[in-house]
Amino acid sequence: MINPLYSPSPDRYQSGVKFRRCGRSGVLLPELSLGLWHNFGDVNTFANSLQMAHFAMDHGIVHFDLANNYGPSYGSAEETFGQIMKKSFAPFRDELFISTKAGYDMWPGPYGVWCSRKNLLASLDQSLRRMNLDYVDLFYSHRFDPQTPLEETLQALVDIVRSGKALYVGISKYPPQAAEFAYKYLKDRDVPCLIYQGRYNILNREPEQEGILDQAKENGVGFICFSPLAQGLLTSRYLNGIPADSRMAKEHFLKSSVLTPEMHAKLVKLNEIAARRGQSLAQMALAWCLKDDRVTSVIAGASSVQQLADNFKAMENTAFSEQELQEIDEAVR
Ligand SMILES: NC(=O)c1ccc[n+]([C@@H]2O[C@H](COP(=O)([O-])OP(=O)(O)OC[C@H]3O[C@@H](n4cnc5c(N)ncnc54)[C@H](OP(=O)(O)O)[C@@H]3O)[C@@H](O)[C@H]2O)c1
Repeated sequence: MINPLYSPSPDRYQSGVKFRRCGRSGVLLPELSLGLWHNFGDVNTFANSLQMAHFAMDHGIVHFDLANNYGPSYGSAEETFGQIMKKSFAPFRDELFISTKAGYDMWPGPYGVWCSRKNLLASLDQSLRRMNLDYVDLFYSHRFDPQTPLEETLQALVDIVRSGKALYVGISKYPPQAAEFAYKYLKDRDVPCLIYQGRYNILNREPEQEGILDQAKENGVGFICFSPLAQGLLTSRYLNGIPADSRMAKEHFLKSSVLTPEMHAKLVKLNEIAARRGQSLAQMALAWCLKDDRVTSVIAGASSVQQLADNFKAMENTAFSEQELQEIDEAVR
């Protein structure tokens, strides 16, 4: 049987999704965004990727976060998303906020990596072709490039916006000094930095400790958390061993060596606190990031619609008592 044409749920913005303003900009982002780093590559089942994308759209999770080399193979998450655009989302393009990035290794040779003008411009053109898009909503410099003059990277971002190939630009994982320079450079050219993307979760507090969260707020820049679930550690996934279909079982990006008895004990304690709040551990971990109004959104990955549905409910309760916060801090100390 031929699949029927996709038509999103008419209740998608009444589903419980909440939006937050991104820094001092006109952009509102859903508190939960969907990351396509894993589970959307050509090694994955298209039907599952499609179902997750539909679930997201049907619930108002309209921000999809990609990068040139997400997959595997490199580029294939964007190709999958391009297929989803063609099959389902094209009529709804203006409801979507799609981001991609360049800066990590993508194609061989010196021009396929880092943040030269050469790489950023060529990579974005490739991304647009793979995703069947005329423009992306947000384009990131994926990481700080210590060799390329920062002015060159930032001017490339300015020119990308002026060319109409991206509506906004952002930076990811920049050290504070480089971020400060970027915010000023971009603002002075009337292409303000929309957002900073950084790793932030219950187990990794760096953006707080390094002042990145305050700095973004002071500059009117949003902050979006990546890996808010610590790649799955901050979920029920690893409370009773390592499931065969889990990211950790692949021993690539998430190694089993992190699941020490001490780490396991922390996760068990966190899970107990989450249960007392009436949340799953994943929901509490996402809510913990969202308790902070300097945070615009969390980009969580998922390998199934069930996980996405679980994560979606995190938005129902993002408030914590002082005692809960203390218990969480003690659990991970
Ligand atoms: N800027 C950067 O450099 C950068 C770096 C990394 C990521 N990112 C972005 O951030 C996104 C999220 O990162 P991430 O994939 O590491 O995110 P994450 O949200 O910390 O972890 C996602 C993984 O957690 C598990 N999971 C999710 N929800 C669950 C639930 N409710 N119950 C049980 N397990 C659950 C799944 O693992 P299983 O697959 O094991 O089921 C899923 O693949 C990426 O897709 C990407 O868009 C950006």
